[in-house]
Amino acid sequence: MGIGPKNYENKASDILHSLSVEEKAALCSGEDFWSLKSLDRHGIGPLMVTDGPHGLRKQKGAADHMGFNHSVPATCFPTASALAATWNTDLMSEIGRALGAECRHEGVSVLLGPGINIKRHPTCGRNFEYFSEDPYVSGKLAAALVEGLQSEGVGACVKHFAANNQETQRMVIDTLVDERTLREIYCPAFETVVKEAQPWSVMCAYNRLNGTFCSDSDYLLNKVLRQDWGFEGLVMTDWGGQNDRVEGVKAGMDLEMPGNKGVNDARIAWAVRSGQLSEADLDKTVLRILKLMLAATDRKDGTAHVDMQAHHDLARRAAEESAVLLKNDGGLLPLKAIGKIAVIGGFAETPRFQGAGSSQVNPWKLDTPLDALRTYLEPNAEVSFARGFDADTAEDDPTLIAAAVEAAQNADKVVLLAGLTARFEAEGVDRDTLALPAQVNRLVEAVTKVNPNTVVILSNGSAIEMPWINEVQAVMTLQLAGQAGANALPRILFGDVSPSGKLAETYPMAMEDCASDAHFPGEPRRVIYREGLNIGYRYFVTYDVPVQFPFGHGLSYTRFQYSDLKLHIGGAAGEAKVVAELTVTNTGNRAGAEIVQFYVRDQVCSQPRPKRELKGFHKVMLEPGESKTVRMDLPSRAFSFYDVARADWVTEDGDFDILVGASVTDIRLSGKVTLKTGNPARRPTPERPAISMSDAQFTGQGGVLIPQDKTRPFTPLSTLHELQETRLGRLLFRKVVKDANKMLGGHTDEEAIRLRDALLSSLPMRNLVTMSNGAFSPKMLDMVLLMLNGRYGAAFKRGFKG
Ligand code: BGC
Repeated sequence: MGIGPKNYENKASDILHSLSVEEKAALCSGEDFWSLKSLDRHGIGPLMVTDGPHGLRKQKGAADHMGFNHSVPATCFPTASALAATWNTDLMSEIGRALGAECRHEGVSVLLGPGINIKRHPTCGRNFEYFSEDPYVSGKLAAALVEGLQSEGVGACVKHFAANNQETQRMVIDTLVDERTLREIYCPAFETVVKEAQPWSVMCAYNRLNGTFCSDSDYLLNKVLRQDWGFEGLVMTDWGGQNDRVEGVKAGMDLEMPGNKGVNDARIAWAVRSGQLSEADLDKTVLRILKLMLAATDRKDGTAHVDMQAHHDLARRAAEESAVLLKNDGGLLPLKAIGKIAVIGGFAETPRFQGAGSSQVNPWKLDTPLDALRTYLEPNAEVSFARGFDADTAEDDPTLIAAAVEAAQNADKVVLLAGLTARFEAEGVDRDTLALPAQVNRLVEAVTKVNPNTVVILSNGSAIEMPWINEVQAVMTLQLAGQAGANALPRILFGDVSPSGKLAETYPMAMEDCASDAHFPGEPRRVIYREGLNIGYRYFVTYDVPVQFPFGHGLSYTRFQYSDLKLHIGGAAGEAKVVAELTVTNTGNRAGAEIVQFYVRDQVCSQPRPKRELKGFHKVMLEPGESKTVRMDLPSRAFSFYDVARADWVTEDGDFDILVGASVTDIRLSGKVTLKTGNPARRPTPERPAISMSDAQFTGQGGVLIPQDKTRPFTPLSTLHELQETRLGRLLFRKVVKDANKMLGGHTDEEAIRLRDALLSSLPMRNLVTMSNGAFSPKMLDMVLLMLNGRYGAAFKRGFKG
């Protein structure tokens, strides 16, 4: 028998039939911040879920969902943005298994990850937690990770479904996306994971989608996820993300998290008793919850042995494959491990290796670059160090730069560790610039001026601007490389391994160059994705916009030659299927891995399409002089677009280019296939997807844009920030801040306060009830809202009603 929830259908169904409506309703929310309820008489539970995604964040004491309080030591792997640059599905599966083993050891049943939202804009504060701007690569990597994790008998919770692409106003924002863009850009990664790996659970996003909260959306959960894709697992809310609990059950939103002393369970039971919710709908939900509970109970094993050192080594290997060599003029890298080497930069002592927020792991071991470099180099080379900038604040400090310049002048070569400090990449806040801190830019400029043999090593969780790029010979990004990233560094710098990572996101020249920029992060309560399909490279390539570094880019210490592309058409009648085959040869003198990318271009299509769409990739390891055949299946879906009128994927007749490249702009081979599908194609007007859709284009002729919410009168959706226009609102905010300070677990630093305020400001009033663990009742909410709207008499009366 397998180990997933689907094997427990009969047992779950028996239990379901023995439960009263109240007992069923009680299972629909958590016991507390991280646990599901138990069913003692059936020997089920309690079960724990924890973040995720790139390591375990299991909190034993005080709980919070922003990473403030203590969590047990665990292995911190590179973040998803870094892992994506490996393009290595086997590695992803291995990491999944390691995460699963740590979960089992800690008695955790479901890991809250991976996060697979699309990087719509380079400044989204959680981009470091997401894989890519491209749905194909995101889906394939995430599916492999989920498969690995679940093979250990630990469930994944794929998040945040759907179109949660910004942090600004994430709990109330209405994301308006046209159906084609939703199906082609924002959904396919979820679709791939569901179809290929059947995750135990999916987390629905905080935001609204086209007017309906994701947690209440029958369209998203029952139709798209379950009916269209065949999802069999359960859906849980993001923490505090349930809007209307009864609508949620109807929509197939099963488990509300965190627990809140049953406030909403009572609503569910009442709705069934009063006929507003059918018991059959509740049964569907409870059956899914029971199946997961049974599967998890059978696999719970707090005694499982874990080889933590092996996980640390795996994290190092992953970091090695995540590193992307962006520039290497004159072959400066690899460096020789001799002579005088100056190590410069605050990150050498205090590594920047992960982002902030709910994904923050407490690493059981942490390598630092300075130690790793010293251990590797001494006594054959002489290592000096200058901080150059403070790793936490990077505040302007000319004395630190002067000392770094002196160290650089006295050295043969410089390893300069630069990048974004922690405050830039955190859950809850979007960045407002792609710029590095001024001190860091000044340092890079000053050091490279005095020592041209400078290698810049970046730590950053998403795209940044490099104003100094033309002055620097070699630049490599480690991204956010996890706890063992520092030990990966010397191995790459000095050539033990050749870098093989390739960017899974474009580094634009400026954020204003992105088509989404004009519509990001939108109006206070509504964001309209007018740029449609023009996300990432799809836009830059289609509109010939120059970028700093293109999608798929990454250099190596060796060279690869692509040859002999052959394309075979096969598949059943009316079903296109193409097999692409080519030879890749390592023509350099070092071993190395190449990531071969397959892009498709539809030459003529009745709908405007991007000029290139990634439809396949393959990573191949080659010794010097070695050749291998790379083969890629391109199924019908690789050629199709989503046809809204037919509500289906359609491939049209005609010619398609297959472009095989080392990046989206470095196409090495191309060929053409002519497909006959019975669907005629004609040239569309315009030929390219519009950069900014008008209202009419956006909604389809005659459609109407969903209006933005009014912020007055105050409602349960009013945010604490909006309330601050009133005296009572300010008082309430102060009270909530006081309570939240307890949650901070003693953290009073500027960073913690900034995150706290960002989180609280965008918190809707309704969450005071669902996240206060019973302290703020629904009745209190009604009364406060009446008072905020100046209706004191009505508030007084409400006080006397039950
Ligand atoms: C985040 C989720 C996370 C949850 C629990 C939320 O704020 O959006 O990604 O899993 O908290 O910590």
